[in-house]
Amino acid sequence: MKRLVVLVSGNGSNLQAILDACEQGRIDARVAAVFSNKASAFGLERARQAGIDAYALSAADYESREAFDRQLIARIDDYAPDLVVLAGYMRILSPAFVARYHDRLLNIHPSLLPKYPGLHTHRQAIANGDSEHGTSVHFVTDQLDGGPVILQAKVPVFSNDSEEDVIARVQQQEYAIYPLVISWFVDGRLVMRDNAAWLDGAKLPSNGYAGE
Ligand code: GAR
Repeated sequence: MKRLVVLVSGNGSNLQAILDACEQGRIDARVAAVFSNKASAFGLERARQAGIDAYALSAADYESREAFDRQLIARIDDYAPDLVVLAGYMRILSPAFVARYHDRLLNIHPSLLPKYPGLHTHRQAIANGDSEHGTSVHFVTDQLDGGPVILQAKVPVFSNDSEEDVIARVQQQEYAIYPLVISWFVDGRLVMRDNAAWLDGAKLPSNGYAGE
């Protein structure tokens, strides 16, 4: 069975959706290990409750981003993952990390990329009066939040929405699309080639499957 390694920094609700999908056979793989850059991340607890190896590495113990990532790579590679999944992992990756998992590194970002790379996306959508927001699953490249988009989900933004309202609405969509995209990868249907995402042999448009 294929092996996933998942990286988290916080609550881990996307990790939970992935664990549930593996358990229910919607993803034909198992989560071999979970790593975090925060020892307090609840995602680690979720992993342990599911009987999965879970570890935290602290940036304070390393002299540089490169040294931290070197150690993280070594620890991840102990599990020989077929796919590395970033699920709310809020740390910039070194080029060496991205290169190591090139073609098998996925991220989920809470915006309709290329709109709103970086932080506080929901807040920006509200402040700009956007009528819709969303989330994107993409392959990771050296460009922050800039790799080929595979699948997006849109949600409406209403005039009286708080930031929390929009976050919750977006996350509900994340729990559906991230396991689905992971299953495509695990089943060999999804690849990254020529800096583009391909599904079932067809090159996906720049905003992913079924994008306008
Ligand atoms: C998710 O909504 C994800 O889109 C976002 O962090 C949240 C993690 O929630 N990721 C990023 O902002 C990455 N730039 P979770 O820990 O409950 O899965």
